Amino acid sequence: MKPPLAVGVVGCGYWGPNLARSFNLDPRVHLVALCDRDEGRLGRVSKNYPQARAFHDFESMLDGVHLDAVVVATPVGTHHEIAKASLLAGKHVLVEKPMAANSLQCEELVRIASGTGCVLMVNHTYLYSPAVRRIAEIVHGGELGELKYINGQRLNLGLFQSDINVAWDLAPHDLSIVLLMMGELPVALNCQGNSHVNPGIEDVTNLSLTFPGQRFATIQSSWIEPRKVRQMTFVGTRKMITYDDLQPLEKIRIYDTRVECPPHYEDFAEFQYSYHYGDCYLPRIEQVEPLKVMCGHFIDCILSGDEPLSGGARGTEMVRLLEAASASLRAGGAPVAAGSAFEPAAATGTRLPAHS
Ligand SMILES: NC(=O)c1ccc[n+]([C@@H]2O[C@H](COP(=O)([O-])OP(=O)(O)OC[C@H]3O[C@@H](n4cnc5c(N)ncnc54)[C@H](O)[C@@H]3O)[C@@H](O)[C@H]2O)c1
Repeated sequence: MKPPLAVGVVGCGYWGPNLARSFNLDPRVHLVALCDRDEGRLGRVSKNYPQARAFHDFESMLDGVHLDAVVVATPVGTHHEIAKASLLAGKHVLVEKPMAANSLQCEELVRIASGTGCVLMVNHTYLYSPAVRRIAEIVHGGELGELKYINGQRLNLGLFQSDINVAWDLAPHDLSIVLLMMGELPVALNCQGNSHVNPGIEDVTNLSLTFPGQRFATIQSSWIEPRKVRQMTFVGTRKMITYDDLQPLEKIRIYDTRVECPPHYEDFAEFQYSYHYGDCYLPRIEQVEPLKVMCGHFIDCILSGDEPLSGGARGTEMVRLLEAASASLRAGGAPVAAGSAFEPAAATGTRLPAHS
């Protein structure tokens, strides 16, 4: 039996404690260090992990304790600095989404990881959700016919961020799902939005993505919504799926519903759409926390040397899409070409760990 991997978590704010909890539950991991600039936060989280040494800055953590891997859960503007130092010190890195503040930073991290042979993975959490994996199976198995349209809504009150707008904060979740289902990158996108609270930081955005073959996706993100909404619709030529991530058990509904146009008609009087209303069924979804699957996949990749499902290349693609969204926002919602800027992506196909 191999000794457990020594893991340190940087960032003990809202999200970091969830990662610390998840890694601490994995028997292949020894959570040896926690780090946060904020003494109060560090103290509160450290109390739960007496075995982990507490550090106020990540350089001291890298120098002060043996680590195999570093988990970065700090604000986006700090991801590059912390991930770069960790990779250069020979540590495997899991970094929160979005991977970095711009694509140049992402590309540098990918280069360093490739040079040092370290795993570089981004937490695109929903790729590890059993519900999303099930939808991907259905879509790629052909049951929906041809997937034509995806709509996603991720709305709630806050949490307001000071360094990124709501598209950079929330849309990565929906974008990762859209790319997985479409299996390719969009050719163009446009983004409209507005700031109602902090000038210059959009708190509502509507992102539209155009894919080859007249396929389309829309993603609505908001921090100023009274309800919490996590919903998506997948429309195929034969069937449709709705996905409500807030439902504890019945997250996915598959509708045998479609609209058919008559193949030929002479005049408008003859023209009639045919609406097909068939059965609706709810597949059983495994009850596993996506975060647990994601953390397990990171450890699997370290042990096996496999490329993660959400590795550095996928994180870079995501940041390029977010940059394109920002460019469109600055141009008042004008379309921005996306496809030519990206390497071909195959966001599907990687096997998840057996224990998922
Ligand atoms: N995957 C998800 O579902 C999910 C959910 C929420 C947040 N996130 C991501 O997690 C990251 C953190 O978000 P959050 O909401 O926890 O932010 P937060 O502001 O609540 O916490 C960040 C923490 O990092 C600390 N910090 C900042 N700079 C540091 C540095 N140089 N060294 C050490 N500590 C430092 C801060 O003191 C703070 O405690 C972001 O990238 C965010 O997008 C992901």
